[in-house]
Amino acid sequence: MSAEMPSSPYRLDFKAFHDWNGDRPSQTLIFHNNGSSWWIKVEVDWPLPESILKLGHFQHRATFREFIEAIDFTQLPLLDNTVTSIVLSLAEQRHNPIMIRDGFQTHTNFYIDMAHQLCYTIAEDPKKVIYPTLDRDVNVPTIEATCLQNIELVAPAVSTVTFRQQKLAYKTIDRPIYIPEDTKSIMDEVEALALFSGHPNIAQLVGLVVSENPYKTCPSNDMPTVVTGFLLEYYSGGSLDKFIEESEIQKDSLPIQWATQIGSALETLHAKGRTHLDIKQSNVLLDAEQNAILIDISGTGGYTWEWLSPEIQDIVLNNVELLPWDMPFETRVAADCWAFGKLLLALAEKSGTGSVSEALRSVADGLMETAPEVRVSLGGALAQLKSRQVESAS
Ligand SMILES: Nc1ncnc2c1ncn2[C@@H]1O[C@H](COP(=O)(O)OP(=O)(O)OP(=O)(O)O)[C@@H](O)[C@H]1O
Ligand SMILES: [Mg+2]
Repeated sequence: MSAEMPSSPYRLDFKAFHDWNGDRPSQTLIFHNNGSSWWIKVEVDWPLPESILKLGHFQHRATFREFIEAIDFTQLPLLDNTVTSIVLSLAEQRHNPIMIRDGFQTHTNFYIDMAHQLCYTIAEDPKKVIYPTLDRDVNVPTIEATCLQNIELVAPAVSTVTFRQQKLAYKTIDRPIYIPEDTKSIMDEVEALALFSGHPNIAQLVGLVVSENPYKTCPSNDMPTVVTGFLLEYYSGGSLDKFIEESEIQKDSLPIQWATQIGSALETLHAKGRTHLDIKQSNVLLDAEQNAILIDISGTGGYTWEWLSPEIQDIVLNNVELLPWDMPFETRVAADCWAFGKLLLALAEKSGTGSVSEALRSVADGLMETAPEVRVSLGGALAQLKSRQVESAS
């Protein structure tokens, strides 16, 4: 089915398909009918036979989609302006049976063959992507999602786009594995980015991306505009991660320069009462002039276990409910310092065995002290890095 079939009033637009090693398939789709649209998630809730489990992801997806094409959605009490979850289970009694469209009954398909034994349960999808309503008082430029062109995915939640002939990065709320907390963390990131506008080593916010509510059923419904993500300036040098893996450092001065730039970005965050909590090489990008730019600065967007300080790892192991961003400010600052030390160590390893590497290692050692109370402060680490910069310039 394609979007170029206006003559057909009944049309399905398939979105994400997930399964768990073949089991519990789920398909999200938009059902268009006579000018209205419904978001639907169809899930299977009974153990599938081995013959289906071993089909492989793509063949299973094709089989499940063929079945979904056959379902008569006009017979179902779909919910307007949201995502309807349809859970299919094996029926003990024939209540809420699944109806197959005329002409589809004869298709050879495992699910269509089973349809007469299936019943459905309908509810609002509790895991649907939540798009916040645009707060008109927000002091950030807004850009209509329909104005973005050449959208190309570069990471699960990040695409490059063209807007007014400029290449930008678009970070979206929607992502392949979405949890409701992602909406808050995107809005936290916007708030943080707006605070650090103009900082040369923190990613620069271009604006919020807004659209009409994607779940709107009837085009004539009046629904508030929502936020779908935000635009950042595009940094063309790639991530520090990739650089460390793939390239040779041409200039001896670069590792110390990057260390100083990342450290001062982090110090700026802390001075405004914010922490990063996901310092790692893939959250540092390089711009066209090879300056280090800190990204992913919500402070609440997730963490990476091996980059968590030992004391936070201990707390999390003893209390899985407690998240790093809910911990006291001093604990979070100490964790950023430790992760910054780990990043300096990675830079040291890339810098050979000379004096640059030694200098980075010595600062990293102070930052990675196991006991947070003896850990060197960010200010102390930056002073050491800057004196090293002065030495090598003279
Ligand atoms: N402004 C940008 N310019 C160029 N590339 C970008 C930009 N922002 C993000 N990216 C690319 O997208 C990747 C992911 O970005 P980001 O860390 O913000 O997303 P994320 O969903 O939080 O990812 P993760 O959970 O892996 O940290 C980056 O490592 C980088 O490759
Ligand atoms: Mg990231």
